[in-house]
Amino acid sequence: MPKLVIVDTDGTEREVQAETGRTVMEVIRDAGFDDMLALCGGCCSCATCHVHVDAAFADKLPAISADEDDLLDSSDHRDATSRLSCQLPVTEALDGMRVVIAPAD
Ligand code: FES
Repeated sequence: MPKLVIVDTDGTEREVQAETGRTVMEVIRDAGFDDMLALCGGCCSCATCHVHVDAAFADKLPAISADEDDLLDSSDHRDATSRLSCQLPVTEALDGMRVVIAPAD
C-alpha cells in the first residue's frame, strides 16, 4: 500500500498508509487531520481540501479540470503546486508523495 507524507498547517508531519482507489482527501481526513475540512465531501465545490503537492509527483497526477482550476483561483494560497485533494485518486505511483495542507482562506 502506498504511503503519503502529510504535513498539517502547523508543520506537523506524519506518514500515513493510503489505500489505492480512495482520494488523497479521504486519506487525510480519515487519518484525523483536523485542518482538512473537505466541506463538500469531495464534490469539487468547496476548495477546503486544498493542498500543495510535491512537484516531483506532478506528472503522476490527473490533469486539473476546469472546475478545480476555478475553485483554486478563489484561494489566496494558490501556487504552482496547488491541487484539490479530493480530485487526486491514490495510486501506487504516489508512494512517498509529500502533501502539505494549505492554510484556510
Ligand atoms: S472536498 Fe470540497 S472541493 Fe474537495
